[in-house]
Amino acid sequence: VYSKVFPNVADTDYADTKLRQQAETAIKSVRANLGKTYLPLINGEYQNTEATVNSLNPSNPTEVVGKIGLLSEEQAKQALEAAKSAFTGWRKTPVRQRAGVLRKAAELMEQRRHELSAWMVFEVGKPVRECDAEVSEAIDFCRYYADEMERLDQGKNYDVAGETNRYTYQPRGISLIISPWNFPLAIPVGMTVASLVAGNCTLLKPAEVSSVIAAKIAEILVEAGIPKGVFQYVPCKGSTVGAYMVKHPDVHMITFTGSQEVGCQIYADAAILQPGQKHLKRVIAEMGGKNAIIVDESADLDQAVAGVVYSAFGYSGQKCSACSRVIVVESVYDNFVARLVEATRSLNVGPAENPGTQVGPVIDANAHSRIREYIETGRAEAKIALEMPAPETGYFVGPVIVTEVSPTATIAQEEIFGPVLSVIRAKNFSEAIAIANGTNFALTGGLYSRTPSHIDRAASDFEVGNLYINRGITGAVVSRQPFGGFKLSGVGSKAGGPDYLLQFLEPRTITENI
Ligand code: SER
Repeated sequence: VYSKVFPNVADTDYADTKLRQQAETAIKSVRANLGKTYLPLINGEYQNTEATVNSLNPSNPTEVVGKIGLLSEEQAKQALEAAKSAFTGWRKTPVRQRAGVLRKAAELMEQRRHELSAWMVFEVGKPVRECDAEVSEAIDFCRYYADEMERLDQGKNYDVAGETNRYTYQPRGISLIISPWNFPLAIPVGMTVASLVAGNCTLLKPAEVSSVIAAKIAEILVEAGIPKGVFQYVPCKGSTVGAYMVKHPDVHMITFTGSQEVGCQIYADAAILQPGQKHLKRVIAEMGGKNAIIVDESADLDQAVAGVVYSAFGYSGQKCSACSRVIVVESVYDNFVARLVEATRSLNVGPAENPGTQVGPVIDANAHSRIREYIETGRAEAKIALEMPAPETGYFVGPVIVTEVSPTATIAQEEIFGPVLSVIRAKNFSEAIAIANGTNFALTGGLYSRTPSHIDRAASDFEVGNLYINRGITGAVVSRQPFGGFKLSGVGSKAGGPDYLLQFLEPRTITENI
């Protein structure tokens, strides 16, 4: 168990020719393997399904990345039965052994780093460097939660004379993970392995559009030695079979990352006591954001421009941590906006597999049209300062900067989840903080400032789970920046932090009179 600093794994250094060649080879070999079929893993067996869905490459939707077998309700029932019977063994499996599976999975992901990145490039259109950082995050989650569970497993003693008091943790039971497509490896891996190492039998239901990568997670966990029934890969239609599992009386907890709409639905469904259910369900829901960066009059504008551009347009603005509002104090507004527009104009927009691409496509046709509609709303509500061109084939949206946006405008309030940045003018720093806090969300936020009193004020008054001073607001690192927010950004404690595993555990006290 680490004592001070958790040793995060390093990302690939693409300046190294050998590593760059390995990454290029992986892209070629994954391309040669597109279009295969991936089936649900139930009780250790890959099962055929009646329905399938194609997962497409957003950079070129004529390319089928994989065909996914979708679970029926009957198969979901079988999976829950299998989880129930596997639980008796898994809950008693020593923590050291459970942690060993996670550490082995981390090792396998390290060996398959370039290949996993390549699958993400094709399936979700994420540029390769960001995929590589995501592989690092997934590896870190495995090692961090393995360490954390060993720490918690030590329990605590609160003994007094004549009485021992032992405080310990036990698993909750059957745990359903519902994961998003935007971090298709790191987020499902993090949620799944946290649940598993805590001793829960865990079912992973990925977002449909990132089911191939989730199938790779299943392969890795099986190879790492996860027993049958303990982990199951259950791709299915969320609105029907997914909802069936959420409502099932045998499920103890649901861990979700995704939209506010779906998160609220799960929260409500999970609250209803079903016939035969003998417990209340725990829900962890990490939902959206409308994250702001404040730029004050003392900011280093070079630093601020670079940080805002990357936070707003990295992965086409499709991170829940992305910056979608920049709030600039009046005295530096014009200067900042001019530089922001020029810096954004220099971004390369193109297919995710091109090594020079900085902004790839958005995830699918629905996202493409939803984001285009928001751009039209922005045109009506404020002033479009930049609208970058984008390739015609594929689901591309060029970065857009909208200026003179009112703090209450639709595009300043609703999560767009695309490369659209609203610039808002504030009279002074106090007004900037008020504007920043004026949404339903509280996920990430940033401040560029060299004024200590402003930095202190932001630390106490800026309502976000993750506040970043003088740097970008995406890319939280496991253990260093435990990630998650409050208000309508979600419920539950921070991923990659010291309180996360507690949510997957039931604490108990054993008192003995001696
Ligand atoms: N953890 C990611 C980030 O910090 C978002 O999910 O960017």
